[in-house]
Amino acid sequence: MLSQDELKQAVAKAAIEYVPFDCIVGVGTGSTANFFIDELAKIKNKIRGAVASSEASAKRLQSHGIEVLSLNDAGDLQVYVDGADEITRHLHMVKGGGGALTREKIVAAASKKFICVCDASKLVDVLGKFPLPIEVIPMARSSVARQLVKLGGQPALREGFTTDNGNLILDVHGLQIMNPVELESTLDHIAGVVTNGLFARRSADVLLLGTPDGVKTMTF
Ligand code: A5P
Repeated sequence: MLSQDELKQAVAKAAIEYVPFDCIVGVGTGSTANFFIDELAKIKNKIRGAVASSEASAKRLQSHGIEVLSLNDAGDLQVYVDGADEITRHLHMVKGGGGALTREKIVAAASKKFICVCDASKLVDVLGKFPLPIEVIPMARSSVARQLVKLGGQPALREGFTTDNGNLILDVHGLQIMNPVELESTLDHIAGVVTNGLFARRSADVLLLGTPDGVKTMTF
């Protein structure tokens, strides 16, 4: 029986197949993305560099001697590889468990292909069991929280956490997200919300799912 880490490692290895020669790779954040960074290090002479979705991933990339470029300098990317906290068969995701959702959404938006790498525990029928992270401007914390309650959620401030952008995270419990595309837009229209953790309008293009029977490739 493979451990969860072994499943993550297997999908990270599989994602390397999607990295074109001589490209700048968009790199996500989290434990699965870390495995991907370690695999990327093995082919670092075949890529030009990477754009990181967090300070933590930038540090790990640099520790392997991979050049980290700013998105402004890199321009549009061919591929973005990242994990997810939950994903459906439609390849809609909840992300932001690590608090890096804003930069993740920006780099994903600038990338032609989004390859999501997950172990099998992340695949769900309905999003929302994992509390939905929302990055908010600090002065709007309470007003955004009240709006979220009106939408049926129970927001909780992520204690002692500040994002790479200097903002706060509200984790919203108790949502059953039947229409992620619509909810993503609704949440984005609340004043004070920087980014919400639904990645539905720009969903993944390919899911590499680590299962005990091997890596499954899913598209929608
Ligand atoms: C980071 O902010 C998240 O969006 C991660 O991509 C997500 O939490 C997956 O992380 P793990 O690979 O550690 O589960």
